[in-house]
Parts: sequence; C-alpha cells; structure tokens
Amino acid sequence: MPALVLLGAQWGDEGKGKATDLLGGSVDYVVRYQGGNNAGHTVVVGDQKYALHLLPSGILSPDCTPVIGNGVVVDPSVLFSELNGLNERGVDTSKLLISGNAHIITPYNVTVDKVTERFLGKRKIGTTGRGIGPTYADKINRVGIRIQDLYDESILTQKVEAALDGKNQLLTKVFNRRAIEAGQVVEELLSYADRLKPYVADTVLVLNQALEDDKVVLFEGGQGTLLDIDHGTYPFVTSSNPTAGGACTGSGVGPTKISRVIGILKAYTTRVGSGPFPTELFDEDGEALRRIGGERGVTTGRDRRCGWFDAVIARYATRVNGLTDFFLTKLDVLTGWEQIPVCVAYEIDGKRVEELPYSQTDFHHAKPIYETLPGWSEDITKAKSFADLPKNAQNYVKALEEMSGAPISAIGVGPGRDETIEINSFL
Ligand code: GDP
Ligand code: IMO
Ligand code: MG
Repeated sequence: MPALVLLGAQWGDEGKGKATDLLGGSVDYVVRYQGGNNAGHTVVVGDQKYALHLLPSGILSPDCTPVIGNGVVVDPSVLFSELNGLNERGVDTSKLLISGNAHIITPYNVTVDKVTERFLGKRKIGTTGRGIGPTYADKINRVGIRIQDLYDESILTQKVEAALDGKNQLLTKVFNRRAIEAGQVVEELLSYADRLKPYVADTVLVLNQALEDDKVVLFEGGQGTLLDIDHGTYPFVTSSNPTAGGACTGSGVGPTKISRVIGILKAYTTRVGSGPFPTELFDEDGEALRRIGGERGVTTGRDRRCGWFDAVIARYATRVNGLTDFFLTKLDVLTGWEQIPVCVAYEIDGKRVEELPYSQTDFHHAKPIYETLPGWSEDITKAKSFADLPKNAQNYVKALEEMSGAPISAIGVGPGRDETIEINSFL
C-alpha cells in the first residue's frame, strides 16, 4: 500500500488534526514533513481534547509510528514540553522518530522572528512568533543547525558562531538589541542532546523500507495551500511547502510512492494573520461563524478571520496539489443559516475571473461573486451517512464538490473522531 498525503486546502486550521487522527488507527506511520510548532492541530478523542503543535497527530494511535521528517523545523524545548504533556496524560510517545537532518529552531531564531515583525509595523506578516521564518532562512542560507549537529560539539560551536556573526550585527546595529552569546546557545542546545538521542533516526531509510514492506504511510501537512511559500499568498505565507510536493522533499519519499492526496477543506473559510482574504466577513455572519465554529487559534489564541466558502481557492488547491479527494470539515457549523453564500468567481477590475490570479495586485483587488445556496436547520451532528443529511445540506456538499474539482470523500459533522461521514474509503 503506497503513501497518502493529507494537507490543508485553504489557509490552515481546516481540521487536519482530526482527519489525521481518524486515519491514524489504520496507518503504520504518520509523518510531519514541513513547518514546526506554528501548527496547532486539535484532536478530540472521547472527552479528551489534545492540542498538538509539533508532534504528528498519529502519536495518539498506539500502533502508529509518528515521524518528524527532515523538512520540519524543531524547537527542542517545545518538543519536550509536548512530550511531557502527553506522557502525563498516559500517551506512550516512545515510538517517535525524528530525522537527524531536521533543522533546529534556535533561541536566536525566535528573537529574530519577533523583532522583525515589530520592525515591519503595519506591514507585518502576523507570524506565530515561533522562529519559523528565520530558521528556514538559515537553512536556505546554509547556516542552519541540524539535530545531528548536537552530537559533535566542535561542529555545533562553529556553526552557531557562523550563524550569529551576521545576526549579532543586525541585532545590535539595526534592531538595537543586545548581542547573543554563542557559548550560551551552544550550552542550551547541548542540554537537549541526550534526551533527543533515542528518537533520532535515518527517517528516509525507515520510511522507504516501510513502503517496500507494504506499510501505510500518511503525510500530515501543517498550515495550508494558501500559506505555501511558493503557491500561497506571498508574502503573507509561512516559510515552507505545505503543498503536496513538500511531502516528498520533506521526507525523502519519492512522488511515485504517493497514491492519494487528500485536501482538508472547511465548509467556510478562515485565516489567521495578515494578507488578502476575498470572502472575509466583517458583519454578524462573520462573528457567528467565529462563535459557532470556535475559530480561535490553537497556537496563538488569536481570533481567526472568518468568511464564506471560496470555490476559487478550492479549485486552486486541487490543481497545485493534484488532489484526489477532499475531506469537508465543519459542515455542522453552517446549520441554521437560511441562505449560504458561496464564492464561485472573483470580479477583478470589472472583469469576471474564474481562477486564482497569479498577480498579487489582482488578488488584492478580487471581489467575491456569490451564488446563494439554501441552508438547513436540522441538527446534523449525529448523521452517519450522506443520506442522513437534510436535502439542502446534501445539495450544499454536492455543489461544493462540483465547484472544487475533486470528490468529497468524507464530511465532518463535529470535532470528535466518530462525528464523520465516510463516503469513499481513503485506504
Ligand atoms: P488544523 O490546524 O487543521 O488541525 O485545525 P485546528 O485544530 O486548528 O482547527 C480545527 C478546529 O475545528 C478544531 O477545534 C477541531 O476540533 C474542530 N473540528 C474539526 N473538524 C470539525 C467538524 O467537522 N466539526 C466541528 N464542529 N469542529 C471540527
Ligand atoms: P495549522 O497547521 C493557520 C500563519 C500565521 C501567519 C503566517 C506566517 O494549525 O493549520 P509563521 O509563524 O508560520 O511564520 O507565520 O502563517 N500560520 C498559520 N495559520 N494555521 C496554521 O497552522 C498556521 N501556521 C502559520 O498566522 O499568518
Ligand atoms: Mg490549526
């Protein structure tokens, strides 16, 4: 059985954690391939709620091996506090594997993230302040620190000094901050080495051997398609590739091994941080979506910006990821609206545009063109099959499917594992 990718089709927070957890019981490996603890994935199991930031959601399934791939950036202090939190709740985390090639979010990367945002002022990206961008920048600049560097003190010291040379100039001369001492950073990083050691592995080899042995590997994306550094709403994006291609580079598994790419799609749209969002609502409907949907950031606690479903974005996600399926989440949140507007195209400078414009300026000018679909008032949270849904809810799903370009193979009707309607099996 080959590999599957599960990723966000919008701007993140689509419900990837729940969807991954749902499949976690039937797969052998769940792999994070990009991002870091900027992610906030909520998993609800019975009456227990878990908020995962760095660990793959598969960690909650006892038979599944969770893997942090080479494409992820790891803040060891966050990793340990997440592991401790789960251990205290009785979750066994001993199977975790971490790539020795994954880059470390150092304390100075967190500092640089925060000061850069402060200096951008009105033009800030609205990052999570977790050091994600500066860590990927160091990786690309070839001055990053990898997990494997913790096991050679001399190399680690040289690398930290090299990374800090330029940064200290910037911190002291531009940002008016105190210089960061390399020795202190090295000491802190070395203090993580022993505890990390049992988890460190050649994850490329492990995953490829697993696939040869017919094991099932599930890649769990962080963030979402529109936050992708290449395909998202640049510069209002994260600094990695959540899109399907990222699963290959971020894990060392080739594209020929991937048979299915599942886009997690919320039945409406949300976004955290700055950047364009054509269907954003500033009225009581937006407030109601936020309240009913519980749209508050898992990582930063910020209110999420809310708006109607945008089919232009969904079509774009289908294209850039080669989606084979959608998992539509949070349909239950829309219960109670008499009419539900859905954005089918944009108007840009007086012209109707069906596809996402590649130009940032055009996207900033995009005004949604809505079609309105009839709503439903019946409680759908107990629905177990598509036929259990009220006719108008069925029609809403069918309309979204038609507009979005890939079959909707599952529908979320509540946060719990079992509050899901499965239409086509993913495995
Ligand atoms: P992720 O980052 O993509 O994993 O998503 P988040 O966990 O940040 O946000 C999704 C939120 O929606 C979480 O609170 C989930 O528990 C919740 N959720 C997921 N699927 C559903 C669903 O189908 N219905 C409802 N009501 N909540 C859901
Ligand atoms: P999950 O995995 C929603 C957003 C931030 C900011 C931009 C850049 O839970 O869907 P960063 O700290 O990554 O440099 O911030 O990306 N962002 C997210 N928004 N969900 C996430 O993760 C996000 N991770 C980052 O708000 O706009
Ligand atoms: Mg989230």
